[in-house]
Amino acid sequence: MQILIPVFAVLCSCPVWSKHLEADQDTSVPEGWSHVGRVAPSDRVELTFALRQQNVDRLRELLELVSDPDSPQYGKFLSLEEVASLVHPSQLTHKVVKSWLQSHGVTNCQTVVTEDFLQCDMTVQVAETLLPGSEFHRYLNGQHSLVRSPTPYSVHEDLSKHLDLVGGVHRFPPEMQAVSRAWTSGKQREAGFHLGVTPTIIRSRYNLTAADVGSAENNSQAVAQFLEQFYHPADLAEFMALFGGGFKHMSKVARVVGTQGGGKAGLEASLDIEYIMSTGANISTWVFTNPGRHESQEPFLQWMMLLSNMSAVPWVHTISYGDDEDSLAAAYMMRINVEFMKAGVRGITMLFASGDSGAGCRHLTKGNNAFRPSFPASSPYVTTVGGTSFKNPFKLTYEVTDYISGGGFSNIFAMPDYQVSAVNAYLKSMQALPPSTYFNTSGRAYPDIAALSDNYWVVTNRVPIPWVSGTSASTPVVGGMLSLINDQRLLKGLPTLGFLNPLLYKLQGQGLFDVTEGCHLGCLDEQVEGKGPAESVASDWAPRLLLVPTVGEK
Ligand SMILES: *[C@@H]1O[C@H](CO)[C@@H](O)[C@H](O)[C@H]1NC(C)=O
Ligand SMILES: *[C@@H]1O[C@H](CO)[C@@H](O)[C@H](O)[C@H]1NC(C)=O
Ligand SMILES: *[C@@H]1O[C@H](CO)[C@@H](O)[C@H](O)[C@H]1NC(C)=O
Ligand SMILES: *[C@@H]1O[C@H](CO)[C@@H](O)[C@H](O)[C@H]1NC(C)=O
Ligand SMILES: *[C@@H]1O[C@H](CO)[C@@H](O)[C@H](O)[C@H]1NC(C)=O
Repeated sequence: MQILIPVFAVLCSCPVWSKHLEADQDTSVPEGWSHVGRVAPSDRVELTFALRQQNVDRLRELLELVSDPDSPQYGKFLSLEEVASLVHPSQLTHKVVKSWLQSHGVTNCQTVVTEDFLQCDMTVQVAETLLPGSEFHRYLNGQHSLVRSPTPYSVHEDLSKHLDLVGGVHRFPPEMQAVSRAWTSGKQREAGFHLGVTPTIIRSRYNLTAADVGSAENNSQAVAQFLEQFYHPADLAEFMALFGGGFKHMSKVARVVGTQGGGKAGLEASLDIEYIMSTGANISTWVFTNPGRHESQEPFLQWMMLLSNMSAVPWVHTISYGDDEDSLAAAYMMRINVEFMKAGVRGITMLFASGDSGAGCRHLTKGNNAFRPSFPASSPYVTTVGGTSFKNPFKLTYEVTDYISGGGFSNIFAMPDYQVSAVNAYLKSMQALPPSTYFNTSGRAYPDIAALSDNYWVVTNRVPIPWVSGTSASTPVVGGMLSLINDQRLLKGLPTLGFLNPLLYKLQGQGLFDVTEGCHLGCLDEQVEGKGPAESVASDWAPRLLLVPTVGEK
């Protein structure tokens, strides 16, 4: 008994009257980041307080109604101001949070239209006092410097009812980048036969004619980027000059929101913008770039907050960003889901790349593995885009699963109604599934749709580069196609597609190619591999969920 007391004192990093908001957040420092040291008490941080919202259940109901093509409320979207009046925190919440901050001398705060975020500037000393348990340290990755706490924070019990989470304390920006296999693969390619994916190939495979370009006045689309990566206007212009023949397109981005750094262009950034603008051709395109530039900000959260502060934003957003679901706090994912719902009820379509690690693999205990879903790909409130490749890479043939294409079942979010019959029918029809301990069939299954993700041509730093691959290639392509559909709808005076999934699953494959061949990566262990082929593991179980769109049919 006597021994237990000091041990307890060491383990409990926070006073009894305080509560962890994100106790389950992984606070370990990811590979690539080196520890610089503790931040001086007088240095400044910018923390984001996510205030508890009201009427979240009503918001969810409204999202179902406005996104269900069979509902009389289909397409009756809300303005940002209407969303604000629904979800804004109560007066009590505002009062409690503001007086807490003010009592610590924190007065330099900014809010958003929906009033559910407060972003405040303060010294590290004040931040560590507000958030017992936190300790701010600086980390470095190349040129990129960040301030984070390796220890979990807490807030006073009275506050915990009014706050979902505090942003800017944990979470490093995740890596998710397209790669050129020309650089990563040691194998020599047969360059002579190489076809490679260009806008011409995309437009021909998905049946886009020269007439399938945007012409509606108010149509718009966007890519959002959170890595320290930039597209270069000259690369986009050169890409269009090289590959933009035969269809009307724009060669310039309409608007950049955020800070575009100087220096070299990033491959990922070039890919996104070049392919959304050549698929969703002649449509006004925005780039959201590095919305979090302060060392203590979380760029993804900053971007979500920005959407709640702009009443006019593009209709379609494509994002290549993902983290292991098991590394994120449940409170964080729940709150991000609410932010997705807020966008969906406004008629905004959110597309996320499904990831480039197949089903993923998580080592549980010795010899015991499970697949590893990623978030936001696993969110029930976004449309998740997987990847395919041509059956014959040298010909414009049919598509099979790209082995890198992310997919699986969430361990956090239950399967949404819109996909229950599709997924269950699929599970029933499959004979050889991996062991059931590897994945959770009660969870949200993803991806929802897929497109080519292999062998793209991209112009970056003025040089055309072949063999660029990843679901960050397929996502802007699907985004551009949805923008073309939006365009037709806007011209007819119809509302935009908004949150696509309820409609997408109701189509039951109509207007889409069914991808029924191929498999994607998973755990390379004996149980999954069984007697199957050595390299291509996991599953015949994702492909049927991968439906490739043929636009122009709708
Ligand atoms: C939201 O927009 C308003 C008005 O443009 C601005 O003053 C405020 O700083 C913005 N909020 C944040 C968190 O940036
Ligand atoms: C391109 O879009 C503009 C509107 O932004 C429209 O006026 C024009 O007709 C479109 N071009 C074609 C070929 O559809
Ligand atoms: C385009 O948007 C503006 C501002 O929201 C609006 O005033 C205008 O009527 C819209 N035009 C069309 C053709 O929908
Ligand atoms: C399986 O998913 C459900 C949500 O659908 C979740 O409640 C449950 O904890 C998950 N099981 C495991 C073992 O992760
Ligand atoms: C391609 O589009 C045209 C006209 O938009 C349509 O007639 C044709 O059936 C489509 N082909 C395929 C394979 O979807």
